[in-house]
Amino acid sequence: MSTVAQEAARRRTFAIISHPDAGKTTLTEKLLLFGGAIQMAGSVKGRKAARHATSDWMALEKERGISVTSSVMQFPYEGRVVNLLDTPGHADFGEDTYRVLTAVDSALMVIDVAKGVEERTIKLMDVCRLRDTPIMTFINKLDREGRDPIDLLDEIESVLKIQCAPVTWPIGMGQRLKGVVHLISGEVHLYESGKNFTRQDSTIFPSIDDPGVVAAIGADMLVTLREELELVAGASHPFDRDAYLRGEQAPVFFGSAVNNFGVQPLLDFFVDHAPSPLPRATTGREIDPDENKLTGFVFKIQANMDPQHRDRVAFMRICSGRFSAGMKAFHVRTGKEQKLANALTFMASDREIAEDAWPGDVIGLHNHGTISIGDTFSEGEAINFTGIPNFAPELFRRARLRDPLKLKQLQKGLAQLSEEGATQFFRPLMSNDLILGAVGMLQFDVVAYRLKDEYGVDASFEQVQIATARWIRCDDARKLEEFREKNAGNLALDAAGQLVYLAPTRVNLQLAQERAPGVTFLATREHA
Ligand code: G4P
Repeated sequence: MSTVAQEAARRRTFAIISHPDAGKTTLTEKLLLFGGAIQMAGSVKGRKAARHATSDWMALEKERGISVTSSVMQFPYEGRVVNLLDTPGHADFGEDTYRVLTAVDSALMVIDVAKGVEERTIKLMDVCRLRDTPIMTFINKLDREGRDPIDLLDEIESVLKIQCAPVTWPIGMGQRLKGVVHLISGEVHLYESGKNFTRQDSTIFPSIDDPGVVAAIGADMLVTLREELELVAGASHPFDRDAYLRGEQAPVFFGSAVNNFGVQPLLDFFVDHAPSPLPRATTGREIDPDENKLTGFVFKIQANMDPQHRDRVAFMRICSGRFSAGMKAFHVRTGKEQKLANALTFMASDREIAEDAWPGDVIGLHNHGTISIGDTFSEGEAINFTGIPNFAPELFRRARLRDPLKLKQLQKGLAQLSEEGATQFFRPLMSNDLILGAVGMLQFDVVAYRLKDEYGVDASFEQVQIATARWIRCDDARKLEEFREKNAGNLALDAAGQLVYLAPTRVNLQLAQERAPGVTFLATREHA
């Protein structure tokens, strides 16, 4: 096997998805803890510090208690290399989450044992289904009273339309929580509050027949457990790896992330069974991860990630080949060779300079405005990875500056923040307005906050009569010129200088389209 094939086979690249508050952040930290990426005692204080070090770098995020940005965390585990891509939890960041999910090979879904399947879980599951992403499920907060486990599996099956294969099964819940049984190995993992921080720190019996089990959980509970296990064996599906890989079956685990409980069996199972990088579609041909030449695509751009480094980072998922520091790559959209100097890797919380990276890994490229979301890099081949869209925004606001002398900074801030893809920035041809488009209302608050924090600009956003935006394409130069003249009042340039029609109403858009045959109105910006 080639080095590329070996390294690709070791990679596990995934994202955690959940309804807010189900425990995504907590589970992320625990996975890092078990992966040896964070040394901490697991106290609340330690947890908060770790959270700060990983995904919680924005003050706004802390204030609001939501995860506004995504980050990438890499750690080695049992001979594998795990890449965990964080997804923003708030509903307004759906588009960003969507793109992160295009860059992973599998997902882990966290469900609150008391709440079951929630609204956001359903939406995220729909997104995963678009690419048949394999999913594992962690049912969290077992230290609290929750729903009956069998009911929960029923709900997941019927609402999310995916078969469940329980891999661990809870012994009690809430005050009565005693542990979990591993349905494949037969092991019993005891729940001991304040323990379970490491494998050595946990009590594990080889089977429920071990005398230690009855001593730990009591004869009555053991009888109930045996009955329940029989019921589960009869009513549920055994784990079928192929069905899991096809996205048709979800292995299910039970635990309590905040108590480190049930996380180790999940992680062990995950690295054994979750897929390594798979072939990916491009506009040309399918790219196999084992190919020797580097290919990758940009799924996310983030400005000012670190207040100490005032830079913008483009996150590139490597799809094939080997990245090595300082190599040159072909930026397909611009047709230019570009030296990939000082690319970053994301070893847990630290940003480090990448020497090598392999399929499944994510590297951070320094971006001075030339790289866009969806861009492909290769070693010369003119291909484009497909399926990473840039949606038309649904909401529009005009930026209002409190200090007119800060206009330059405002323009720069809006342009740079819009590169991240969550907002889009438009400059009408006929006015000096600066228009921001977004998919969710919260984005305007985030941008106002970040303009102040990162660019020193005090701006607010006010209502503007725009219902939707369409990118304009026309191969006939004369026709395009005519269209520009007639519609100048509704036209604007986006941050990349592309022509966009800003329609005050849907009816207006329809009329404009009817009056301009030969001109194409696109709802998504094309990347190629
Ligand atoms: P999210 O990223 O999915 O939004 O969830 P997060 O991990 O922030 O967890 C949401 C809340 O649930 C947190 O409490 C967290 O401590 C709690 N939690 C996570 N796992 C468990 C668990 O296994 N059992 C119990 N009982 N609670 C759990 P919080 O009070 O909102 O935050 P904090 O003050 O603890 O940070």
